[in-house]
Order: sequence, then C-alpha cells, then structure tokens
Amino acid sequence: MTGLPFARYPTARPRRNRTHDSVRRLVAESRLSLDDLIWPIFLVEGQGRRDPIPSLPGVDRLSPDEAVAAAQEAWALGVKAIAPFPFTDPALKDGTATEALNPDNLVCRSVRAIRKALPEMMICCDVAFDPYTDHGHDGLLLDGIILNDETVDLLVRQAVALAAAGSDTVAPSDMMDGRVGAIRAALDAAGHQDVRVLAYAAKYASGFYGPFRDAIGSKAALVGDKRTYQMDPANSDEALREVALDLAEGADIVMVKPGTPYLDIVRRVKETFRVPTFVYQVSGEYAMLKAAAQNGWLDGERVMMETLLGFKRAGADAILTYFAPEAAKILRKG
Ligand code: PBG
Repeated sequence: MTGLPFARYPTARPRRNRTHDSVRRLVAESRLSLDDLIWPIFLVEGQGRRDPIPSLPGVDRLSPDEAVAAAQEAWALGVKAIAPFPFTDPALKDGTATEALNPDNLVCRSVRAIRKALPEMMICCDVAFDPYTDHGHDGLLLDGIILNDETVDLLVRQAVALAAAGSDTVAPSDMMDGRVGAIRAALDAAGHQDVRVLAYAAKYASGFYGPFRDAIGSKAALVGDKRTYQMDPANSDEALREVALDLAEGADIVMVKPGTPYLDIVRRVKETFRVPTFVYQVSGEYAMLKAAAQNGWLDGERVMMETLLGFKRAGADAILTYFAPEAAKILRKG
C-alpha cells in the first residue's frame, strides 16, 4: 500500500482530496445512514409514563403506550429497528427468573402492542435473565456459581415467549455456552423458523454497562460480577472462537459489545467471517459523551456522529445506540 505506485511529496499532496466538502464526500470510504441504526428503549409498567434515567441523560423508561408512541416516532424518522428492555418490578424478581417466562410480562405485552402498530418494524428482544433475577445475574445461580445448562433450558422458553409475542429477532445476551443452538432448535420446534437469532457473540465483562443496570434496576441487585460468563477484555482470538461457535449453532447475525473500546474486535470479526456484524454502543459510552457535552467539554453532536461513523469504518453493519433518534434527525438533514 505504501510502496512504489504512489507518488511522493511534493507531487503527492493528500490534502488535495480534502479541499472542499464536495470532494471529501466523493472520497469518503465509510458512510453512516438511517439504515444502520437500532434503538434500545427501556420499559416500565404504567400508562403515560416517561421516567428519566439520571445516568442516561435524555433516555426515559417508557410505559407500554409511550413505547408504542416512541416506536412510531422512530419509524417516522427512518429508524426501523428497536430493542426493548424491561425495568421489572422488584416484587416480581426471584432466584429463577420466573417472570422472564411469563408470556404476559411487561416486555411481551409491549412487543405485542408495538407489533400491532408497526407490523414491519424489527423488534429485537434480549434473551437473558438479569432484568428478572433477584441476584441480578443473567443466569441461574447456585452457591455463587452460574449454572450453564440449567440456564439454557429456561432461556429457550424465554426466547419462544418473545417470539410468540411478536419479536422477529431474539438476541441472547447471557453468554451461556450452547444457548444459540438450543434457542434455534426451540424456535423451530415452536414454528418460529423465521425468527432470527442475533447473538451477542463477543460480549465483554465491561464497566461500561453501569447506566444500563440502573435503567433496568439490576445494579443494586447484582451480587458479584459477570466475569465467569462474559469475556475478558484482554482477549481477541477468543472473540473469534465465540463467533465461530455461535455461527455453527445457527446465529443469523453476530454482535460485538461494548463498541468503542472494542473496534478492533469488530474489524477482526467482520474480516474473518464476512457475516452480518452488529455493534452495541452501550450505556456507559452514551453517558460519557452526554455528560461531557452537557458540561460543554465536547461538541455532543459531533462526537456522537464521529463514534457512529467509527463503527462503520471498523466494519459494523448496524449499530445499537441510544443516540438513534438524535442521529437520525441529523442524517435526515443530509
Ligand atoms: C444484559 C444486558 C446488558 C446489556 C444489554 N443486555 C448488561 C449486562 O450484561 O450487564 C448492556 C447494554 C448497555 O450497557 O447499554 N444481559
């Protein structure tokens, strides 16, 4: 790339291709578009409720009716995919995530309502137990140990309930081994052959999930940490192995999470497997940028667009981001 065919300075002047916006647009290698955005939203029981989440400025927990309205607004803006997450009433939490399997739980009811209003919207629901367990873990816990296979047996039931409610995409975010294959088989057996699995394939044990855990009310509950199932931030080859396993088990789309600190993983996954690869710009990434912008330390709009474009440059096909509606408004202006 840097060898002979290229002229050198002063013949070569890379700045020539940067003189005006017109030429900069022509030589741009990556582009962010409305088609790249998935909007995670938070749900809460009630009617007409929009409860602000202090550690996620500008993000509210929405009651099901407000979630429908928000989804419709997103759709009108051109954001055609949402990912709803529930704040579960603490009284409904227990050690075995019973409420996760309730076909009339908050998330299932909301998905039904959104599906009715927007038949074509992509509705992507998390498969994991952390919103439902009194210990805050994604799986079942016995004497301080996460039980892999017992968790998978229940996760498949959660996935089928979500699909029955109208979720066209289920996204296991729990990081148990073998869950993608088990979920695929259970969906197929229940007649949901067309429901796709978006695997949180390379999900790291990250400090950047803090505000999300406030939003779903799992932070206070969480006993210990998630390092026995989420990946070690030190590892990169292991991400390829996780992705390979999930693809072999039938994942339709894979995801890397968090985003900005793991752009190298996005790049490696995309280059190695050449399959649809999504990235999650997680709550802590959003909160950092918002907080700095609110203090006047960063130009919020600019860094938002820069991080989103960075995901595209790294090779991501789509991005889960709390910025989705805000970014959509800017993209619509061209
Ligand atoms: C839970 C889940 C988490 C996120 C998405 N699904 C948190 C966690 O694993 O603790 C994080 C998203 C974010 O921080 O925005 N299974």
